Amino acid sequence: MSTHSAVATVAKKVPLEIIQVPTTTPEAQQVRLRVEWTASTPLDLHQNDGALLVKHPQVLGDSVAGTVVEAGSETKRLRVGDKVFGFTWKTQAQKAYQEFCTTDEWLLAKLPEGFTPMEAVTLPNNFVTVFHSLTTDLGLETPWPKPDNYVPDDASSAILVWGGSSSVGQFAIQILRYYGYTNILATASQKHHEKLRILGAHKVFEYNNPDVVESILKSGGDRGVPLIYDCIGSLKGSIGPIAKLAKKGAKVAILLPVVVRDSTDTEDPEYEMDVGKVAEWNYGVDVRGVRTHFYQDNEFFKHHLQPEIMPTLLKDGVVTPQKQRIVEGATLLERAQKAMDMLRRKEASMERLVWRVSDAYLVQ
Ligand SMILES: NC(=O)c1ccc[n+]([C@@H]2O[C@H](COP(=O)([O-])OP(=O)(O)OC[C@H]3O[C@@H](n4cnc5c(N)ncnc54)[C@H](OP(=O)(O)O)[C@@H]3O)[C@@H](O)[C@H]2O)c1
Repeated sequence: MSTHSAVATVAKKVPLEIIQVPTTTPEAQQVRLRVEWTASTPLDLHQNDGALLVKHPQVLGDSVAGTVVEAGSETKRLRVGDKVFGFTWKTQAQKAYQEFCTTDEWLLAKLPEGFTPMEAVTLPNNFVTVFHSLTTDLGLETPWPKPDNYVPDDASSAILVWGGSSSVGQFAIQILRYYGYTNILATASQKHHEKLRILGAHKVFEYNNPDVVESILKSGGDRGVPLIYDCIGSLKGSIGPIAKLAKKGAKVAILLPVVVRDSTDTEDPEYEMDVGKVAEWNYGVDVRGVRTHFYQDNEFFKHHLQPEIMPTLLKDGVVTPQKQRIVEGATLLERAQKAMDMLRRKEASMERLVWRVSDAYLVQ
């Protein structure tokens, strides 16, 4: 049996390790790709430092960009040599932080011409999360192909993206703008306000301002803010103010997990998965916790979201890749550990930590 190197969390809040895992031969509609680039996400920190939904040793990572090196006998779209990117996480063979990933071809998009794999790998996790949350948790329609002159029913009612400068938040703003929403409100640090207006936010609020709730409420008009998308999920940093903002009839979608306490060098993190429990919600507020890992329950999304919608919107300039901060290091383990430490120190501000996975890729 051939094996390859993978980055794994091996116990709660200890340094990452390289383990050898089986190199899986693709069957039917699967492909095997050499993972060339990945992007770290806060889930790595939740899993490594908080052991959230982890069985040790567990290979980490869910965003891949690489080259198809082997294709199953029933593949329809992908061939050996194709450059691809995608959000793929379900089994150990599908995880991102390993030299080879074997996955279903519907979890991958072909890299459009004119984009680097480092740019493309900033999309998948965020892109899929946004479509899943808007449709499953906030009840919006995202027709595809989008009919010409499509206008949603409530195009001008306020939608708040709390954490507009986060990775998910940036794509939420761009995708809402694409579907015709004109009253997108967002929160972010002042330094990012202009960038978020360019992406499609109508008004941006400084979340550190003590008057932030009052300012947003004023701006929502008579109808308040009927849709709220919490792209941060922090007990104090986002859920506290959102619980004051959300009035009867509002829908609130919160990215899980709820971070009750952040991981730091000296403190362990604490998480909660039940969004109903974490605040005194006003009567009549519909609060949901977002779980993107279930997006394939939607058969249309399963077959079209990553293979078709994601590369099309990238190629057409509807969504732009996030700014990348390339994490350097002599070995796979060094790059992975550096990125983990940067996540813990919250070094990424409106950017994605992107790093090279396969060392073989470098010497080609
Ligand atoms: N359940 C799911 O399906 C799912 C899917 C994806 C992500 N998530 C979770 O969602 C969370 C965010 O993920 P991400 O990758 O988008 O994060 P990220 O890009 O690492 O977020 C960093 C940004 O968060 C902003 N931020 C921090 N605290 C804030 C606050 N209190 N209010 C507003 N903005 C704040 C900062 O904004 P400034 O730079 O402007 O200060 C920073 O730019 C993570 O916990 C992740 O695990 C869950």
